[in-house]
Amino acid sequence: MDHFLYKNGALHAEDVPLAEIAAAVGTPFYVYSTATLLRHFKLFDDALNWADDHLVCFAMKSASNQAILKLLGDAGAGMDVVSGGEYARARAAGIPGDRIVFSGVGKTRDEMRQALNGGIRQFNVESEPEMRVLSEIATSLDVIAPITIRVNPDVDAKTNEKIATGRKGDKFGIPISRAREVYAMAASLPGLKVIGIDVHIGSQLTDLEPFRAAYEKVANLTKMLREEGHEITRLDLGGGLGIPYARSNLAPPLPSDYGKLIQETVGHLGCEIEIEPGRLVSGNAGMLVAQTIYIKEGEDRKFLIIDAAMNDLIRPAMYGAHHDIVPIIEPTPGMELATYDIVGPICESGDTFAKHRELPAIKEGELVGFRSAGAYGAVMSSEYNTRPLIPEVLVQGDQFAVIRPRPTFDDIINRDTIPEWL
Ligand code: LLP
Repeated sequence: MDHFLYKNGALHAEDVPLAEIAAAVGTPFYVYSTATLLRHFKLFDDALNWADDHLVCFAMKSASNQAILKLLGDAGAGMDVVSGGEYARARAAGIPGDRIVFSGVGKTRDEMRQALNGGIRQFNVESEPEMRVLSEIATSLDVIAPITIRVNPDVDAKTNEKIATGRKGDKFGIPISRAREVYAMAASLPGLKVIGIDVHIGSQLTDLEPFRAAYEKVANLTKMLREEGHEITRLDLGGGLGIPYARSNLAPPLPSDYGKLIQETVGHLGCEIEIEPGRLVSGNAGMLVAQTIYIKEGEDRKFLIIDAAMNDLIRPAMYGAHHDIVPIIEPTPGMELATYDIVGPICESGDTFAKHRELPAIKEGELVGFRSAGAYGAVMSSEYNTRPLIPEVLVQGDQFAVIRPRPTFDDIINRDTIPEWL
């Protein structure tokens, strides 16, 4: 459930008509609902209530505006970060270091130093070379780096090829078959304290079975490592629970079902449980709102040309992803329908959001909204075609605030430097 509903004939974010925001900030823009963000975070938090100790670390790669981080942080969330930039953002938003976990296959020495100096809950280490470097950096700073080791359980998450991460050919984690020797090596290195196991098998999973398969392997590994003398006290079980992108689709499992599955598979081990959800927290908490520029008659189709483009929301072009696209004026029963290819202004055919999409007939100048755009939307946008990054707006009840303004053309072009010798 989200808080983007039609009221009095107009689509609202909570109690604010989207048309009112459009009039204030211009189009296109991203808009997020605080109530939805908090609701989704709480669903995960409650789903792990059975565990004595747990932390929901929001995967901030899905939506990293500091206002969103502060909102979730104040509600008790930790953060899963994957770069020095994300670490700095989380800290700037007030997230304490002991609630930040650092993931990713390519952490640099600078990033390790930054997190060790600033405070970190744990590094999720993904390889032996990374482990050696972290040991060296921690030793040089005279601190101990708490680590889990990410294992690759060789489980197919049955999701989009580009976002599956737990099969043996994927670049993530260490092969679970080599876990014994890698944990032994970690235990022998100075500056590291091994506290647990990490696993993340992919994103947009709509079935719990791959999670079950992976978590059962983690449970067996925990037992084996404990027998070897390692103290395994924390399990980081990653993110990945999917959302319904098309209202017509079957809804994926609920966070409560996912929480039960975690309890069934690893609950008996008495470990502290961490999870790293991104999309399910932020996805349906955000929409992209755009304006129709032209409706163009093609040879065999109508093109709805809007002012948002693939640089603003790249998911359809990059993953062939579906987003429900809806008019901002509530369709009335029996209203005329039309079929469109919905496209942006960018100079390539890949700049297409949807093909043969049936919508209530739209007029030029009308607003349309993309649902489920809160995750991997604004964060993946670019300035391709020198199009300014679009504003982000946060709504709470009947109030809204711009949480990232639209840059001016000068802001963008003044970043370039023309060398004196040209
Ligand atoms: N933890 C780790 C280590 C991850 O790599 C990810 C996502 C997550 C947690 C959060 O997964 P989520 O709960 O959001 O599924 N850009 C793609 C998605 C990339 C996901 C990358 N990793 C998209 O737009 O679908």
